[in-house]
Amino acid sequence: MARGRRMQRVGSTIVCVILAAAAIAAAAAQPTATTNSGTPIPVVGVKTGIDANSGQRPARQNINSLWARGGPQWDLYILALSELQAVDETDELSYFALAGIHGLPHSAWNGVEQVDGAPSSRGYCPHGEVLFSTWHRPYVALFEQTLVSHAARIAQKYPVKVAPTYKAAAQTLRQPYWDWASDPELPPAATGVNVTVNGPNGVVTLRNPLYSYRFQRVDVEATFGGSLAAFPETWRCRASGEALANNSTASNEGLAHVAGDLMSDVYDVFTRTTTFDAMAYDEWRGSSFENPHNIVHSASSCSGTMSSIDWSAFDPLFMLHHCNIDRLVAMWQAINYKTPMFTTTANSTGQFGTPPGTAITADSPLKPFFDENLVLHTSNSVAAISKFGYTYPEIDDWSTTPEELATSLRAQVNGLYSHNQRIVDLATSSSFQQPRPPHRDDQPGGGDQTQTSYYTAEIQVNRSEISLPATVNLVIDGLVVGRMAILGMPCEGFASVSLPLRDTLLQGNLSLQNMAPQTVIPFLQQNLTMEIRASDGTPIPVSSTPSLQLEVQELDFMPRVNGSTFPVFGNATRWPIAIRQSDNCEG
Ligand SMILES: *[C@@H]1O[C@H](CO)[C@@H](O)[C@H](O)[C@H]1NC(C)=O
Ligand SMILES: *[C@@H]1O[C@H](CO)[C@@H](O)[C@H](O)[C@H]1NC(C)=O
Ligand SMILES: *[C@@H]1O[C@H](CO)[C@@H](O)[C@H](O)[C@H]1NC(C)=O
Ligand SMILES: *[C@@H]1O[C@H](CO)[C@@H](O)[C@H](O)[C@H]1NC(C)=O
Ligand SMILES: *[C@@H]1O[C@H](CO)[C@@H](O)[C@H](O)[C@H]1NC(C)=O
Ligand SMILES: *[C@@H]1O[C@H](CO)[C@@H](O)[C@H](O)[C@H]1NC(C)=O
Ligand SMILES: *[C@@H]1O[C@H](CO)[C@@H](O)[C@H](O)[C@H]1NC(C)=O
Ligand SMILES: *[C@@H]1O[C@H](CO)[C@@H](O)[C@H](O)[C@H]1NC(C)=O
Ligand SMILES: *[C@@H]1O[C@H](CO)[C@@H](O)[C@H](O)[C@H]1NC(C)=O
Repeated sequence: MARGRRMQRVGSTIVCVILAAAAIAAAAAQPTATTNSGTPIPVVGVKTGIDANSGQRPARQNINSLWARGGPQWDLYILALSELQAVDETDELSYFALAGIHGLPHSAWNGVEQVDGAPSSRGYCPHGEVLFSTWHRPYVALFEQTLVSHAARIAQKYPVKVAPTYKAAAQTLRQPYWDWASDPELPPAATGVNVTVNGPNGVVTLRNPLYSYRFQRVDVEATFGGSLAAFPETWRCRASGEALANNSTASNEGLAHVAGDLMSDVYDVFTRTTTFDAMAYDEWRGSSFENPHNIVHSASSCSGTMSSIDWSAFDPLFMLHHCNIDRLVAMWQAINYKTPMFTTTANSTGQFGTPPGTAITADSPLKPFFDENLVLHTSNSVAAISKFGYTYPEIDDWSTTPEELATSLRAQVNGLYSHNQRIVDLATSSSFQQPRPPHRDDQPGGGDQTQTSYYTAEIQVNRSEISLPATVNLVIDGLVVGRMAILGMPCEGFASVSLPLRDTLLQGNLSLQNMAPQTVIPFLQQNLTMEIRASDGTPIPVSSTPSLQLEVQELDFMPRVNGSTFPVFGNATRWPIAIRQSDNCEG
């Protein structure tokens, strides 16, 4: 059934706050640069534990490894996070105030006030624009420096015998990350209500600070509004009958559904994007880390705290998630070390400190984060992770050349994220010995190389037409073959994504890549359908989104030649595909 061109909207279900004139602040003061203590808090990261000779920096660790290993760093991480969550919410460096920079409560932090024309309906975080990738870097670094300062103080309190071990552990402690593309389930460390660690005074059982954050001033926080305001603590998937959060089974089911998308999408960004802009955020015909990022926000929490941009940063999963986004961006930058930062000019979508339409370059301020000279950070000033005193296990940029590091990272990315791709290793794969029907035999100088095809779906929709957050799925015969998650901010303008079509499209055992467009395109034109679902699963008919656009793109594709190279993509050919409602939504 082809979609009609009805101009109907889902009017009554639109919950997105439209940037109305009324929501735009009246004249506001310039930054006053005052905080609790009177001066801005600089974001410098953590400077301890760095080897003065080699320059080696401590790695942010995989949360599952940190948890499984246990020991002093795990103890300190949990105790520090717990102590941070207990800091009075009116303190600028409380868990609450730090989380509150992202979305709600839409108020000034670090003395960085709202400016003329900037929306009062948003926090400082940019999404759907290039600053998405750079803004979250100082944000995680600020959280990390605060967390580690607690850990360092706690380490001093241990008995003399073990104090040196704990002090050393604190010096190399950094914010951990959750690699959801490799481990698509909630980190076990974050699912128990209680946690037992070795504290300065012996073994102690605490409320697990990774399980949820409990608001201290429920009466005040409830006044922030929105559907999540009524909850006294952050929640993911609620168990039936419980006021609060705990159904890890449901969260993990949600994540299991999208696991294939997460890995395919991440690998696709690493291998296919060649510009920082394309990698950094979702734009028309671009493949970026923002889409899998959005999918994790939506899938990990049913319609709970993580699914709302305004509230997500309060869930302790948020920093684990964004630390991972920062890691993916850092790995991409090290692979593409000749073009590690964008040089384009873009339009801001508008945040608490920035009016919409502001011209954005890599020298634009990342509000509200000041550097050590009390000048606002910029994308250029945060381009290198060494700035903030951390690295990731995959990145050694002190004892290798940039080219060696890029080669090593390509190999690690292939090892971590390529399983979903039927990308054969020409040198070693036995599957390559199988007959492969290359659809082109006229490649000049092609000789021993096999060029095949890679298929992507390009989707675009006007956000105003959908009740956000929502997911747009590509469906063939009941199977989801690609997924676009759209969060609630920004709620206007076009949301776009370029999705690799996954091998769910296997016919028999033939990979799509082995199939010629003459076969694939008619198949997709006849059998590719779409469904849109609100965050609670409610179907939204595609007929209510007249702006929805779908194209299939075929790219010339040269498989990788060995484990430390990526596949090579060539020219693209595109076909428009009629929007057809998936059966799943009907009736
Ligand atoms: C929450 O879920 C975890 C993991 O399934 C479980 O260990 C814990 O006991 C649960 N807590 C409650 C209160 O149900
Ligand atoms: C967590 O610890 C508290 C306080 O020690 C205890 O009352 C509660 O029963 C524990 N909860 C679970 C699920 O173990
Ligand atoms: C948790 O979620 C699972 C899967 O959605 C469901 O089967 C189960 O009944 C839920 N448990 C509770 C206690 O609500
Ligand atoms: C930025 O937005 C303004 C106002 O919406 C528009 O006039 C301008 O053309 C846009 N610039 C770019 C580069 O898209
Ligand atoms: C999106 O749709 C809204 C409502 O239909 C319309 O006002 C707006 O102009 C559209 N935006 C764009 C960028 O076309
Ligand atoms: C696909 O491959 C599997 C194992 O590799 C084999 O068991 C199955 O028969 C194959 N199916 C077809 C349709 O060739
Ligand atoms: C659409 O799918 C059906 C069922 O798999 C298949 O029989 C048909 O050939 C497909 N259409 C095209 C044009 O390939
Ligand atoms: C992999 O292929 C690249 C490009 O052809 C080549 O430079 C490199 O030496 C190869 N690496 C290995 C380990 O064979
Ligand atoms: C890509 O397309 C351009 C323009 O049609 C053509 O000149 C070029 O040879 C093509 N490249 C490949 C690798 O096919």
